[in-house]
Amino acid sequence: MRLSANKVKALAAAVYLLTASLAVANDGFERLSGHGGPVMGVAAANDTNAKLSASFDYSVGYWTGGKPTWLEGHKAAVNSVAFLGNDRAVSGGDDSTLILWDLRSAKMLQRLEGHTAKIMSVTVSADSTLIASASWDSRIGLWDADTGALRVWLTGHKSGVNDVAFSKDGTLLYSASMDGTVRSWNVADGSPERVEVNHGFGVNRLVVNDREGWLAYGSLDGGTRVIDVENGNVIADVTLERRPILALALNSDASRLSVGDGDGYIMVLDTRDWSVARDFRAAKSGPVWALAYTNDGRLLSGGLDEAVTVWPEEGRVAAQGADQQPFHRPPNEMENGERQFVRKCSICHSLGTDVNRQAGPPLGGVFGRLAGTVEGYNYSSALTGNDLVWNDDTINALFDVGPDELTPGSKMPMQRITDAQDRIDLVEYLKRATDPDAPGTNTDRQNGQVEAE
Ligand code: HEC
Repeated sequence: MRLSANKVKALAAAVYLLTASLAVANDGFERLSGHGGPVMGVAAANDTNAKLSASFDYSVGYWTGGKPTWLEGHKAAVNSVAFLGNDRAVSGGDDSTLILWDLRSAKMLQRLEGHTAKIMSVTVSADSTLIASASWDSRIGLWDADTGALRVWLTGHKSGVNDVAFSKDGTLLYSASMDGTVRSWNVADGSPERVEVNHGFGVNRLVVNDREGWLAYGSLDGGTRVIDVENGNVIADVTLERRPILALALNSDASRLSVGDGDGYIMVLDTRDWSVARDFRAAKSGPVWALAYTNDGRLLSGGLDEAVTVWPEEGRVAAQGADQQPFHRPPNEMENGERQFVRKCSICHSLGTDVNRQAGPPLGGVFGRLAGTVEGYNYSSALTGNDLVWNDDTINALFDVGPDELTPGSKMPMQRITDAQDRIDLVEYLKRATDPDAPGTNTDRQNGQVEAE
């Protein structure tokens, strides 16, 4: 029997899907698959083994076993999620909105509005009474966790706020900003306490262990430092040649601090002497966006591979976690139209016809289709209330003028492709790759981006 190149690709993809759906492997290594976009935030419950994931696919995953419950309600990528007590959770995202969720019913309880730019981080005080949100509108919101009412805006950062953390006793809040500073605030009245760190480069992440008197932060330029909160002195500088730092997590007894970076590495520090306990490549391609510890000391990570990886407690980890996406061929082997699609569309759209968990609708059969008509996909009214038919000209126009012009109010982010030839090549490629009748075109459905069931 001879297999065509396409068949081989399809088989490889099928094998991948089989492997990916085996959630539990050996050594406590686990992969929670199902999201249709990168995982930007993860959280673990204190008292159970439940987990939460926030994704670029606009949804939150609630995991109590291998199969998630999906929490749908955000209108853009979700960046951060936290458990809230009483079977509730809170999430925040690019839609500038916080959502309170009831986890038992998987229903949205409330939207907390007021931020005017994307929310990068949400955190909950130790007694679960307060929520803090960090936003690129340069403000921090302090919200009452029961009523969802805004208590106070903390203002003073000179640009976007990336992360927030409460002190253990809940009296202080710490924040990290693009303005290069880490600041502290009085929770009672929202007044600024002081500037803890002036790093210069934007600070992305922070964790606080005020019981032992230190905080750690990671920044855009790769700077990773531990600071004495009393006097601001540097206790340890664990900066490596990796940047940016995108994730930090502290385990429950504060003995381990993990650092995730843009090169896909996770470094685990022993906080007794700040030595490196482990350092391993967690993702073959792409960054480690999210880290969190479970109460039994396992490390969760999230990134470009659209899954939450659960790492075993100790050792023997390096090889297994390597990003298993049999992604696309190297860009230099692709023709321009395919390259355009892979780079600019594939993160949100498949070429197949089944509605999956990606942020956008599947594009299989899109030519000749009325806008907003894929059954089972949750469009905005910008597309359902539209009599546009997708063809060479309209898809070309979509990226010539931008979705915000052609389909105002659309959930698709504003993006334009300014080079006319790029648009023509993209449309030519899409026409072939989305044709449901053409043999061998979309059988491998974007190389493993299909939901692994
Ligand atoms: C960040 C995610 C994202 C990216 C990147 C993206 N899209 Fe979209 N796209 C969406 C979403 C979300 C919708 C649905 C919009 C709505 O309901 O308002 C959509 C809708 C569409 C539609 C209308 C489909 C229909 O059934 O009516 C087309 C066509 C489309 N996108 C093509 C593309 C192409 C081509 C690219 C790459 C150049 C691209 N998109 C990049 C998220 C994305």
